[in-house]
Amino acid sequence: MATLPKVLLTRSLPAAAMARLDGIAEPIVPDTPLTPEALVRAVRDADALVPTVTDRIDRAVIEAGASLRVIANVGVGYNNIDVAEARARGLVVTNTPDVLSPATADLTWALILGITRRIGEGERLVRAGLWTGWALDQLLGMELGGRTLGIIGFGRIGREVAARAGAFGMSVIHTGRTADAMPLDRLLALADVVSIHVPLTDATRHLIDQAALARMKRSAWLINTSRGPVVDEAALVWALKNRIIAGAALDVFEQEPVIHPELPSLENVMLTPHLGSATIDTRTAMADLALRNVAAVLTGGAPLTPVPA
Ligand code: DGY
Repeated sequence: MATLPKVLLTRSLPAAAMARLDGIAEPIVPDTPLTPEALVRAVRDADALVPTVTDRIDRAVIEAGASLRVIANVGVGYNNIDVAEARARGLVVTNTPDVLSPATADLTWALILGITRRIGEGERLVRAGLWTGWALDQLLGMELGGRTLGIIGFGRIGREVAARAGAFGMSVIHTGRTADAMPLDRLLALADVVSIHVPLTDATRHLIDQAALARMKRSAWLINTSRGPVVDEAALVWALKNRIIAGAALDVFEQEPVIHPELPSLENVMLTPHLGSATIDTRTAMADLALRNVAAVLTGGAPLTPVPA
């Protein structure tokens, strides 16, 4: 019997998704997460590689994977992959767009509501046993109705976030390439809540720096569910400490899982551990799409969702 091509997965994926490889390829799933060195060793025999957004797929990995035909990221962001190097070696690179947009938009709204209504502060008070009872002026937040949501990056996720704004009575402004888009500086000056939805590229690294934060209203809130390095974390700490902005809610960080040491001590910031797409439905759909991409390429078909050129 002919041997099947090998698919190296850096994590085990839901069984329903793994079934996509049945009869097409032999999955190889390490028992423990691979170190960068172990990944270079493990990829040597693989025809396909299925990493997640926390695996760095750099030149060393791509070079070692001499038999690779496809790298199918389980994630929409693909800044973890050296796409130029992969392309130069004729590899297909795919990601998982669309399937995670609703879940990420929901999480964005959870953070918008959480930080503007001071949910984290309230929870910390209750858990610490320090709550002494209802008070007229306790933990007063900002109402969303009638206020302006500024969306930086009006792609799939940005649009999903915008689609929910009407339910909270917010009007939406956004950056981007459409006729109704506005320049970033103007958006920063006008928005009551600024939510970031751009991919991480050389152009977006530290897009929100000290100067950008200083342009925001002092009463405004910053939400980041995109990629940590889009925000200069040290500048954000400065802005939060000096009340240059009202507060921030962050699901992503510059050096995950390490976060700026001063962030946890600040009350006006809400911190979640990169949960944007973290629902059972969405993670299953992401895994399924990644493995459908693998199956398509290994059977000689076109990838379903190649990353844009
Ligand atoms: C992605 O897909 O890029 C997300 O950040 C993973 O949750």
